[in-house]
Amino acid sequence: MAERVCAVAIDGPSGAGKSTIAKAVAARCGFVYVDTGAIYRTVGLAVRRAGEDPHDAGAVAALLPGLDIRFDYAPDGTQRMFLNGEDVSGDIRTPEMSMYASAVSAIPAVRAFLLEMQRAIARSRSAVMDGRDIGTVVLPDAGLKLFLTASPEARAVRRLRELRAKGDPSTLEEVAADMARRDHDDASRAAAPLRAAEDAVLVDTSDMTLDESIQAVYELVCRTYPEAAR
Ligand code: DC
Repeated sequence: MAERVCAVAIDGPSGAGKSTIAKAVAARCGFVYVDTGAIYRTVGLAVRRAGEDPHDAGAVAALLPGLDIRFDYAPDGTQRMFLNGEDVSGDIRTPEMSMYASAVSAIPAVRAFLLEMQRAIARSRSAVMDGRDIGTVVLPDAGLKLFLTASPEARAVRRLRELRAKGDPSTLEEVAADMARRDHDDASRAAAPLRAAEDAVLVDTSDMTLDESIQAVYELVCRTYPEAAR
């Protein structure tokens, strides 16, 4: 019998630990980890390089047909993003690209352009996919949907730590303000706003360590997909 393709959708605001948790759980279960935020960031980078305003839906939509966006997986499971053949995995990880990604992600033409790319990977392999609309739009039939969240304070501190580790000099106030603005924009946009699917399991990681969060999500995955247990 063919192995079944398992799909785990993880949504939630930035800084809730989605990507770290999703990546660890995917590795443990032998699933691929799909970081959909990286795909939006790559569109944001293309818009920045073209010198266009990321809020200008017409200008952004006009760029899309000329973009070749692909991703693959390094042997260690790291997702790499390519823009017109160039590896831009590092360039998309800046606070500026967070804002560009958030702005372009509100444009329906961008979401439509990226939808099939996300669905295709989940059809071909068992995946843990994280983003903002995975359980609601991209994979509405996922076997397990999680909405991962944490208090704004906990999320800002975590994001600051990540940025500091990369040498970014942002302050806690700046990170918290950026995050609050992005949360607001992501949740209030008309196109696929950030929200929990009706059948999503809510996981609040505010008072959990990273290991506890990973274990909690791993257990939920194994309950849905016993074949993922290691
Ligand atoms: O997860 P992230 O911070 O890398 O995402 C960057 C932005 O992309 C985020 O502010 C909202 C947008 N995004 C989205 O709209 N839908 C997704 N599935 C993933 C990200």
